[in-house]
Amino acid sequence: MTKRAAALFRDHFGDSTGAVVARAPGRVNLIGEHTDYNDGFVLPTIIDRDIEVVARKRSDRLVRIVAADLGERREIDLDSPIDYANSGWLPYVMGVVHELVQRGRIEVGVDVIFRGTVPRGAGLSSSAALEVATALALDTVFNLWLNPIEMARLCRDVEHRYAGVRCGIMDQFASRLGRSDHALLIDCRSLEARHVPMALDGHRMVIVDSGIRRELADSAYNQRRTECEEAVALLREADASITSLRDVTPEMILGHENLLPPDLFARCRHVVSENHRVLEACERLANDDLPAFGRLMKASHLSLRNDFEVSHPALDRLVEEAHQVDGVLGARLTGAGFGGCTVNLMTEAALPDFEQQLEPLVDDWPTQSIVVGTPEQARVTEVIP
Ligand code: GLA
Repeated sequence: MTKRAAALFRDHFGDSTGAVVARAPGRVNLIGEHTDYNDGFVLPTIIDRDIEVVARKRSDRLVRIVAADLGERREIDLDSPIDYANSGWLPYVMGVVHELVQRGRIEVGVDVIFRGTVPRGAGLSSSAALEVATALALDTVFNLWLNPIEMARLCRDVEHRYAGVRCGIMDQFASRLGRSDHALLIDCRSLEARHVPMALDGHRMVIVDSGIRRELADSAYNQRRTECEEAVALLREADASITSLRDVTPEMILGHENLLPPDLFARCRHVVSENHRVLEACERLANDDLPAFGRLMKASHLSLRNDFEVSHPALDRLVEEAHQVDGVLGARLTGAGFGGCTVNLMTEAALPDFEQQLEPLVDDWPTQSIVVGTPEQARVTEVIP
């Protein structure tokens, strides 16, 4: 980011007095996919790509938003109906504003400008970073004192109500609460979380973007969630204590195989086994057993490909090629799937061979490969006097 945020704001809105600058990072999920909306466990970490938002209060009911990187601008009256269908980034910013209005926390409009470095639609949570950065900025602008978990929940609700994606809480939680050099173990039922130190001494975590894009709102994502709910309804016929797939043990699904059609059985098997992998991966990480961590990543990919069926041939290829390289400990698709990125754990020495092996498979190397470094956590960076 070159130009200072305050100067950018002034370029568009004339004056930046009283504006607040906040930023929030994207995330990569190390393991625990499609478990969050099943009340399960996830293990993401933040990345050194983020979204920066500058916001300032207005005295009327107008909201003006500039997407600086895209050269786009919208003006919205808080009292007029808004059509969010096919409206790009609008739901993520305006949804946060709207949600705060609905909850009676704010009554006037705002001027907002945002820009960022999280690639869009790549499964690295650019939308969550935009929501969280917006919420953080508005939190200070209006002295709301939202606690971090409340803020993550609000941003998750924005996805459901304004973007039409029935996602879990992982992305918003990770963007708001993630810390550099740590993975974040989140229990998505209790919302308890633990920062697990990630000492990658002599190792690297590398993200590779397949370049394949698929919108979550019109993808099979919501359908997968519905399938999981259908499976729970069927399993409850045998055991009423089951309220989500979190409650299902491996023994239970094996015992109830006849209750479920084969595709729902496979979906359950993924979620149940993935929850176990997350907890084991956490232990392995805490004990610096990275080879075992890598094996769990590999198993997770196979389960997502075969049982949850959210992979894509391009992602499978990237994962297979990664495993051809000596020193690669594990590779898997990350995020919702259907496209987006893979995450790869390797020894530092393996990095040049890894790059050579994967470069021919993606169009725009090296911009499509991100080595996880020491990202900055979400925070308000400036209050302009
Ligand atoms: C998307 C959703 C998350 C989560 C992942 C899959 O990133 O936003 O809530 O469900 O997919 O693990």
